[in-house]
Amino acid sequence: MNDTRTAGPSRRDLIKLAGAGTLALNSAPAAGAQAAEEQAAPGPCTARTFPADFLWGTATSSYQIEGAWNEDDKGESIWDRFAHTPGRIRNNDTGDVALDHYHRYKEDVRLMKALGAQTYRFSISWPRVFPQGTGTLNPKGLDFYDRLADELLGNGIEPFATLYHWDLPQSLQDSVGGWESRETATAFADYAGYVSEKLSDRIKRFFTLNEFATFVEWGYGAGQLAPGLKLPRARLNQVRHHAVLAHGLAVQAIRSRAKPGTQVGPAENITAAVPVIETAENIAAAERATRELNAGYLTVMLEGRYTDAFLSSAGPDAPQFTDDDLKTIASPVDFVGINVYTPTYARAIDAPPGYEVVPLSKSHPRMASSWQFVGPESLYWAPKHLQKIWNVNEIYISENGCGTDDTPAADSIVYDSDRIMFLRNNLTMLQRAVAEGVPVRGYFLWSLLDNFEWLDGYGTRFGLVHIDYATLKRTPKLSAAFYSEVIRRNALP
Ligand code: FCB
Repeated sequence: MNDTRTAGPSRRDLIKLAGAGTLALNSAPAAGAQAAEEQAAPGPCTARTFPADFLWGTATSSYQIEGAWNEDDKGESIWDRFAHTPGRIRNNDTGDVALDHYHRYKEDVRLMKALGAQTYRFSISWPRVFPQGTGTLNPKGLDFYDRLADELLGNGIEPFATLYHWDLPQSLQDSVGGWESRETATAFADYAGYVSEKLSDRIKRFFTLNEFATFVEWGYGAGQLAPGLKLPRARLNQVRHHAVLAHGLAVQAIRSRAKPGTQVGPAENITAAVPVIETAENIAAAERATRELNAGYLTVMLEGRYTDAFLSSAGPDAPQFTDDDLKTIASPVDFVGINVYTPTYARAIDAPPGYEVVPLSKSHPRMASSWQFVGPESLYWAPKHLQKIWNVNEIYISENGCGTDDTPAADSIVYDSDRIMFLRNNLTMLQRAVAEGVPVRGYFLWSLLDNFEWLDGYGTRFGLVHIDYATLKRTPKLSAAFYSEVIRRNALP
């Protein structure tokens, strides 16, 4: 593979990419793009601005970008094993090399800087730090995140670290059945406590686990994500319980071992019911629906109890738990992160449970991933529900973005008009929320770079920056110029 490590594009290149009109708008006559870089954002823009301290960033995860899957004494993860099993991933793609971010992280930080991003959400690979999941530490693994944190801070970018983005140490899957065992939850808390103790002098905010609902339902229920199991209902409910328990135990471990002031919260792909037509009845029904549709995850984390409907529908297959477990699961958090991709519409009905999910029409538009329908209203309703139902007063959109089918044009640029459309619509709805005082503090666009998209391998592209997988050359797409302009103005352009 060719080494294409270069200085990479600058902010000036992105301004050029945004178009001649933007350049003229932003620069003093004849002063060129440098002046545009230094110029402050345009004056107050009444309708479409975000709060002054709003944080704009991008998000990635370890397995999807790092590569170096067995370097520097890293342990095997369930995703290494799963992707190495023929037939599991489209084209049998693996994350063995991925984007080689492990070696090219400095170039990637420069890309973030060129965007003007203020923050970055990445994940720490548990088996890099503890190859067996527990026991012996691998200092070289931790060093990588140490260097990454320094590089980010040196470039004025605030790191947010996710402690679990699905790459469970394989050895825990082999020895205790992974999330089927309570021991995995306690091992996770030990690892979380250790990492936060070592890095919280520079990393001030941690997400515990990413998308409980996805890795549990698809990894242990439907068998489509690692570790590829199809457990019966009672065992699956126990997995769900251990995942939220791990979150609570990790919150406690971070509180006791990290530097004072370190903040922590979950990053969940909330199923946020959107009132299909905004009537008072449908809004109330959407709130009820949101509580129930998240009963095994966000609801129990924020309320400290499983809803009656959740327990009665599970019947004899309900998870085994204690009151202490519930207290732990609901340990107070500093913020709630939500990943928002695809809509769920609901409306009121007269019969119990008082709501129903409205099916999507056959022609409902989608993005390039088969699961991703278009529904920008979710960016308004998801944070709105968090505030209204659970009184959450610090919210991050920990992921939002879209998969597209990109091909570079003759000038090597990807003109991803669909991603720009998606972002403009989604951010318009998010702006509606913040304008009403919904306490959203920041937005992490998924993703900085095209990357390994789980089952889809490298076939679906989510990045602002295009990757040529033959050379790993990084080239910002037109959407990078759009997002950079959003950040610069702190408003919708
Ligand atoms: C989310 C995952 C993330 C990425 C996006 C497209 O569900 O958290 O890793 O794959 O979807």
